[in-house]
Amino acid sequence: GFQVKVASTGAVYDVPADKRITEVLDEAGVFVPVSCEEGVCGTCLVRVLEGTPEHRDLYLTDAEHEANDQFTPCCSRSKSPMLVLDL
Ligand code: FES
Repeated sequence: GFQVKVASTGAVYDVPADKRITEVLDEAGVFVPVSCEEGVCGTCLVRVLEGTPEHRDLYLTDAEHEANDQFTPCCSRSKSPMLVLDL
């Protein structure tokens, strides 16, 4: 697992292997709009302020993946112990 931090509140949440980031956030009352939940539509796109996402979407381009400053939290994970999200 890894952790996500909501930049606006400073709150940190554990993301277990069996849960989506959007599920963890939703349970904490942090709303991120979702649609496909498969990394196709881009509805859930969130800016990443710190950390390196493990991109699992088909929405962003290779160059956008390499920039690591945004990701799709419906399906993507993290390569670093923590992601700080612009939420
Ligand atoms: Fe469609 Fe995340 S909800 S890419």
